[in-house]
Amino acid sequence: MHSTLPGQPFFHYQHAQLQVEGCDLGALAQQHGTPLFVYSKAAMLAALGAYQRGFAGRHAQICYAMKANSTLAVLQVFAQAGCGFDIVSAGELARVQAAGGDVAKVIFSGVGKTRAEMRQALAAGIGCFNVESEAEIEVLNAVALEMQMRAPISIRVNPNVDPKTHPYISTGLKGNKFGIAHERTLAVYQYAATLPGLKIVGIDCHIGSQITDATPYLDAMDRMLDLVQSIEASGIAIEHIDFGGGLGINYQGDAPPQADALWAQLLAKLDARGFGQRKLMIEPGRSLVGNAGVCVTEVLFMKPGEQKNFCIVDAAMNDLPRPAMYQAYHAIVPLDATPKATPALVCDVVGPVCESGDWIGRDRSLQVEAGDQVAVMSAGAYCMSMASNYNSRGRAAEVLVDGSRATLVRAREPVSALFAGESLVG
Ligand code: LLP
Repeated sequence: MHSTLPGQPFFHYQHAQLQVEGCDLGALAQQHGTPLFVYSKAAMLAALGAYQRGFAGRHAQICYAMKANSTLAVLQVFAQAGCGFDIVSAGELARVQAAGGDVAKVIFSGVGKTRAEMRQALAAGIGCFNVESEAEIEVLNAVALEMQMRAPISIRVNPNVDPKTHPYISTGLKGNKFGIAHERTLAVYQYAATLPGLKIVGIDCHIGSQITDATPYLDAMDRMLDLVQSIEASGIAIEHIDFGGGLGINYQGDAPPQADALWAQLLAKLDARGFGQRKLMIEPGRSLVGNAGVCVTEVLFMKPGEQKNFCIVDAAMNDLPRPAMYQAYHAIVPLDATPKATPALVCDVVGPVCESGDWIGRDRSLQVEAGDQVAVMSAGAYCMSMASNYNSRGRAAEVLVDGSRATLVRAREPVSALFAGESLVG
């Protein structure tokens, strides 16, 4: 009667119907339509809990990397749980403010901050700018001086460590655009320390995303700590060390370490090197929300073919861009798992968008027919936040579930909103 899905403790079948916490996904889809993103608050808090356990007794700040999912109600969950936020734009800063987040716990990453964004973040009083280039240091110093302020900074180090993940989501290798090469870091700190508009508060790195092995973290940590030692030996104090995000989740039998187990290893190294009492920061995104969300979509047509069978659903690459962009795998399961007479068919699950790249799953064995609904699993991270309006498709609605209470936290985007800012030539 009650069966769980592997790696998805907050989603289970009851009487063959897929549930999230105490809510029936089919009923939510009927009420709100499809495609529909549904998130479990308990799943988010459980993922956060693993980090909180890992850091118990330490001076640590978790800054949720909100690019993973920046929906206000999701931010509110993390803000209420005491998190700060890792942002990459003034738009994300505005979202933190709208969600009631603590701006003093905001860190601002990204290689291309504009002067206007720097001004806005300074005026708001964010905690730290994670500076990514020497040119940015000059501009931030000038902007802060114009405002008669000092900008708190950390320098993002590119430690040249291979995170062994998809090339598009590796960020800490020499060939990536991110951070300052670790060989140059000391000299850049010494220079930054001479600039009156800046106040050095930390050091940071982020080596990639969907990392499933502890080794790259341990290597990056060693490199960072070597640098902290040489920077402090030159007379510059480093208040906090920020190790970025990047911990992977289980999409398809992946076995990343749990956050608390990973941090037990990392903290052992920090302790051994005498940094255990330092203020620590991290910027996890995917591992906090990825497996807390699904996208429910309806089968529009089955299209058997000579070479391939297609299952055409109403969600598409504009809602779920990860398969098209990174050949990513998301499990796809029926909402109704009652055994059926319909034979299972091996098919590609595709959307209505006019691109051959618009696929959600390849060669999946599914026992479904038109009108059935399926859940695309592990869709809490980098799905809605990367959704687009391609093909003039409005973005999906979103529901947040907390026990047996479900709240519509984003209405389906009406088509009129898509061209509200446009005008005809008169
Ligand atoms: N901090 C910085 C500076 C980052 O660039 C990122 C992600 C994070 C933190 C959070 O990393 P996470 O814990 O989520 O792995 N769209 C891609 C992922 C891009 C990640 C970019 N940076 C995907 O769907 O796989």
